[in-house]
Amino acid sequence: MRRRQFLGAVMSSTILPKFAFGATPPFRLTAEPVQVQLLPSDSAATSMFGFNGSMPGPELRLRQGERLKIDFQNNLTQGSSVHWHGLRIENAMDGVPGLTQEVVNAGDSFQYDMAPPDAGTFWYHSHNVSQEQVAKGLVGALIVDEINPPDVDHDVTVLIADWRLLDGGAFDEEFGDLMSLSHGGRMGNYARTFMSQETVKKGDRIRLRLINAAADRIFPLVLTGAIGKIVALDGMPLSEPRAFDNISLAPAQRADLIVDAVQDIEIGMLTRGPTFPLGKLTIEGENTTRIASPIPLLPKNNVATPAQPSQNLTLTMMGGAMGNRHGGSDIWAFNDISGLPTEPFGSFSRGETARISLVNDTAFPHGIHLHGHHFNEVNDDGSLGDLRDTALVDAGKTTDILCVFDNPGKWLFHCHMLSHQAAGMKTWINVA
Ligand code: C2O
Ligand code: CU
Repeated sequence: MRRRQFLGAVMSSTILPKFAFGATPPFRLTAEPVQVQLLPSDSAATSMFGFNGSMPGPELRLRQGERLKIDFQNNLTQGSSVHWHGLRIENAMDGVPGLTQEVVNAGDSFQYDMAPPDAGTFWYHSHNVSQEQVAKGLVGALIVDEINPPDVDHDVTVLIADWRLLDGGAFDEEFGDLMSLSHGGRMGNYARTFMSQETVKKGDRIRLRLINAAADRIFPLVLTGAIGKIVALDGMPLSEPRAFDNISLAPAQRADLIVDAVQDIEIGMLTRGPTFPLGKLTIEGENTTRIASPIPLLPKNNVATPAQPSQNLTLTMMGGAMGNRHGGSDIWAFNDISGLPTEPFGSFSRGETARISLVNDTAFPHGIHLHGHHFNEVNDDGSLGDLRDTALVDAGKTTDILCVFDNPGKWLFHCHMLSHQAAGMKTWINVA
């Protein structure tokens, strides 16, 4: 199945196969090989990895203030680990082999025990050989409900990803293709959503939690059939609901929308040609009791406001095809170093605010993710921008971020185009 077919109508977005959404505590999360009906049901199933027998893994859901205890069991034939993307938790639970824990070997288990401070839309994924294990399906949604959630009729999780498949639907096991690694990453040739439900009523108010769980692809999304606003990005509420035409999500980024259903809600990906359908929420019946009201604000999470920065650092993305020469030993580098350096890129005392210029000196966009913290992007006019955990920086552009480093430990700082981080684009910081 090559690009031509991907762009063609392989996908009837009518019947999406069901999979396990929702699990109840205590959570046991088992990574294992699974057969997934990724393509429409008249096609063959695909051999992938999953959690608890499904890909994506079960949606983990808790209330703000609750602890999350997970018994992770690795039933793969290779090492693995789980990272709780966007949760500002204790360093030892962050799931990064070699930095925060030992790899969980085949057949072994590890207990994660966390107290996530923030309500919002997060996700979990493998953090070992992640460019392969995430691409093969070790992903799932993680939702922390507000103590007082907004008034909506449905709360719908929409996990979006792409996969590279061979003719007939088998998973393409080739991960070493240099062309992909040195360009935008290893893009799939098939993409779709997995949603926690498939129907709504006309007139319903719906919270949509969009999660880009792809290994490398930026999704430029369009949404039709609903009217509403963006209320949160990367799990963090916006200070005001924001209008949108389309929404670009880098790998690992999330957007929460609150919308009112007007007709079938279709989610598609913008392409140079016609919009590629990713999934839809079909209208069945009509909600006649909901009274029109403005899109509500979400309650803020307790994230420290940046002070005057006491350090100004620059992280320059280097390498790739058509890139300048750099001093690193692999395809990609940060500040002339490929892979994890022995010394951290930055050292901060707990509570310190630093400003970091993310300079993209390459020919490709990168989604830069900091573990254990959220940071504010700085707007072009110098004002404090959105709180995020992953910043999308376009080719040739610079984005400044301000971060209050208040979570002690060694934290990974890397490109979330997972092929790029595997080919050198990663570093770490230390908060003491
Ligand atoms: Cu979503 Cu280092 O990870
Ligand atoms: Cu990158």
